[in-house]
Amino acid sequence: MKPNFDEIIDRHNTNSLKHDSCAQIFGREDVLPLWVADMDFPCPDVVIQAIKKRLEHPVFGYFNHSDAFYQSIMGWMRRRHAWEIEKDWICFSPGVVSGLAMAVQAFSRPGDKIIVQPPVYHPFYYVVERQNRVLLYNNLILKEDQYSIDFADLEEKLKLGAKILLLCNPHNPVGRSWTKEDLQKLGELCLKYSCLVVSDEIHSDLIMAGHVHTPMASLGSSIAGNTITFMAPSKTFNLAGMASSEAIISNAVLRKAFCGISQEALHVNLGNTFGDVALEAAYTQGEAWLNALLDYLNGNLNYLTDFVSHQLPSLRLYRHEATYLVWVDFSALGLEHKDLQHKLVHEAGLGLSEGSIFGPGGEQHMRINIACPRSVLETAMKALQACCV
Ligand SMILES: Cc1ncc(COP(=O)(O)O)c(C=O)c1O
Repeated sequence: MKPNFDEIIDRHNTNSLKHDSCAQIFGREDVLPLWVADMDFPCPDVVIQAIKKRLEHPVFGYFNHSDAFYQSIMGWMRRRHAWEIEKDWICFSPGVVSGLAMAVQAFSRPGDKIIVQPPVYHPFYYVVERQNRVLLYNNLILKEDQYSIDFADLEEKLKLGAKILLLCNPHNPVGRSWTKEDLQKLGELCLKYSCLVVSDEIHSDLIMAGHVHTPMASLGSSIAGNTITFMAPSKTFNLAGMASSEAIISNAVLRKAFCGISQEALHVNLGNTFGDVALEAAYTQGEAWLNALLDYLNGNLNYLTDFVSHQLPSLRLYRHEATYLVWVDFSALGLEHKDLQHKLVHEAGLGLSEGSIFGPGGEQHMRINIACPRSVLETAMKALQACCV
């Protein structure tokens, strides 16, 4: 079935975080929600069909991840990322954030230093601080119209003895798809100072036209041996509620340590029957759907870019390379952050992600989720125009 991304699907009353929690999050039930990172599109039909088929059998007891489950992940990495991985390298993780938390637990101790690169996806801070590790900020720097890694500062932070660097590749919220050169340099520096790279690559399939994703661990065996990668079909195919992700770890020593937490200490390596079915169907049969999705998202990005440059000159966009989350600078409006949020919620009727939650550098920015029907995005942009010019 050809996907129709223009269709508006009412997600209210499905316990949708994005649609059913607006009163708690924004103080108003009726905002147009363009915040949390899921899409307002149905998942691929092949996934629905696979789940229906599994439902024909009425027993849902304990199960093993099948060989086909692992093969589907290996095939996806080969076809989409030119990355050859082995079956043994794959460890199940229910979510990417829970995987990051387990990696922090496995590879550092309370009091150890962990590097993050703000502004960055806010759970990066929680998994460090709530496990009593110490955050070191290697703030991204602005070069012209995009964010870059400050390598000189990174080396200073590494010299302080950081045990782990939490890498966001591609980067949420700034929309960078890090280049091979960036990753090589970062990987070599981390090796030099014996700092493990934990690479969150959950957005790796959502790369905009003209860019490519480089898996950190595809950059040779030394860097791979010092990297733990997390990927998932959850952002790619809108399956976050299935809670099925994968850690990919080529280094057997690191893998054993990670599994010691996920399989033995916490016992979260099972997952759920439908998560496995959905992952396998998406990774084996979802490619045409993903290509159509990427066309649509590129169209949404072009629409937004064009609208902002012609109708909303007071807002600033950055060069956007990856993810369906667009980072927008509202600082020219000269508003304090809470006044900006109040204006957007109460004058424009929009529920966006507040930049300040992403840490230093996020002030006076907003993150807009463009994974919605074009007509919804048009409504949102016109509401912004009415309130911000
Ligand atoms: C960079 C990044 N990592 C992880 C997640 C969430 O992953 P999960 O729901 O699998 O924990 C998100 C969701 O927005 C994200 O942007």
